[in-house]
Amino acid sequence: MSQIPHLNGFSIKNNEWHAENVPLSAIAEQYGTPAYVYSKKALTDAFNAYEKACIKPNGQRRAQVHYAMKANSNLAILNVFAKLGAGFDIVSAGELARVLAAGGSAKKVVFSGVGKSKSEMIAALKAGVKCFNLESIPELSRLNEVAASLGMKAPISLRVNPDVDPKTHPYISTGLKGNKFGIAYDEVIKTYQAAAQMSHCEIVGIDCHIGSQITEISPYLDALDRVLDLIKALADQGIQIHHLDIGGGLGISYTSETPPAITEFANTLLDHIEAKGFGHLEVLFEPGRSLVGNAGLLLTTIEYLKPGETKNFCIVDAAMNDLMRPAMYDAYHAIVPVKLSNQSKANSVSYDIVGPICESGDWLGKDRELAVQPGDYLAILSAGAYGFTMSSNYNTRGRAAEVMVDGDQVHIIRERETIESLFANEKLLPN
Ligand code: LLP
Repeated sequence: MSQIPHLNGFSIKNNEWHAENVPLSAIAEQYGTPAYVYSKKALTDAFNAYEKACIKPNGQRRAQVHYAMKANSNLAILNVFAKLGAGFDIVSAGELARVLAAGGSAKKVVFSGVGKSKSEMIAALKAGVKCFNLESIPELSRLNEVAASLGMKAPISLRVNPDVDPKTHPYISTGLKGNKFGIAYDEVIKTYQAAAQMSHCEIVGIDCHIGSQITEISPYLDALDRVLDLIKALADQGIQIHHLDIGGGLGISYTSETPPAITEFANTLLDHIEAKGFGHLEVLFEPGRSLVGNAGLLLTTIEYLKPGETKNFCIVDAAMNDLMRPAMYDAYHAIVPVKLSNQSKANSVSYDIVGPICESGDWLGKDRELAVQPGDYLAILSAGAYGFTMSSNYNTRGRAAEVMVDGDQVHIIRERETIESLFANEKLLPN
């Protein structure tokens, strides 16, 4: 058996890729392709790696994970995390409904996002979420009005934009001055003072999220120091902060990245908070990618091999509508043949792996050396985060099936979409 270190849950046995104990080829044959395959063990181990840092050896909890479910919001995945004790970070009323449907508790939900609508605020207040992470004065005023109309008090945090560079892709950095996110550092105290005057808001915390796929700890420590300074300054003004939400963003290894291990990352931040004298704060993490990214892959079948003058194309049945990340961010996902028996350097060819969609941007991998035939299965690795959740029906393609493997068992956790369902809500004009 061989194992790629960052791919817990997926490994090669008898010359073939497996999800836990199940050969991927058996999954492809039974459920068809494209299909997302998740490992329950990998999900559980990643969550427990956070828990190891969150719970002190004496059993005392010093932090709580709120899974950022935008990374992967399948009900079965939410349910696995809810059972392990996770809270959730949501960004829409739709995500709130999913948490509740999956057996999560609203009391452990924080509601993030820059554009919450009135109806979303009402739904979250009625459900009794733990906290609204607010990003502007108009949003604060709206929440105050909505809470007043319901005769309720809304628990709030303000999201600080600490103006630090997370050193990641520009589309996924969020804590720089030029980003739309958070309240400008210099405005934070003033905004808390305004919040303290709002009769239907109750200040409970402070929040910060600097970006995603961050592979170094130093930007976190910089952001943390800036936020701890604010907590101190607020206390001097009589505004008490009870919880500190340090966001998500820890990166994963897609190829050669070397992010800190989850437990080490979380311990470093928590130890830093304690060392600076803020050990009394309740701390929240909002990880998404680091919990699910390497716990899932996308299984696809090769339709055609198309040799070309300058490029060879390997045309597969998955496409950019199934996995947007390469087209959108130029993201790298390792792509491996599910059966390795035919692989030899001698007969391997360099291919661009592309889908059937009518766009040149519809690619999943470039310049990959493979010895493959039509009908072979490929696995696109590290696709558990922002894979299915960002998928679409472009070209009227039904979204992929999703399965979760637990030891020897394969559970279908989302049926492949039928073509009829894709236009079931559409209407013809009357004559
Ligand atoms: N908290 C907030 C407020 C966020 O905006 C995000 C992600 C997270 C937590 C979770 O971040 P994570 O631990 O997953 O890095 N679609 C992009 C990533 C977008 C991230 C958006 N916000 C991608 O595929 O790389």
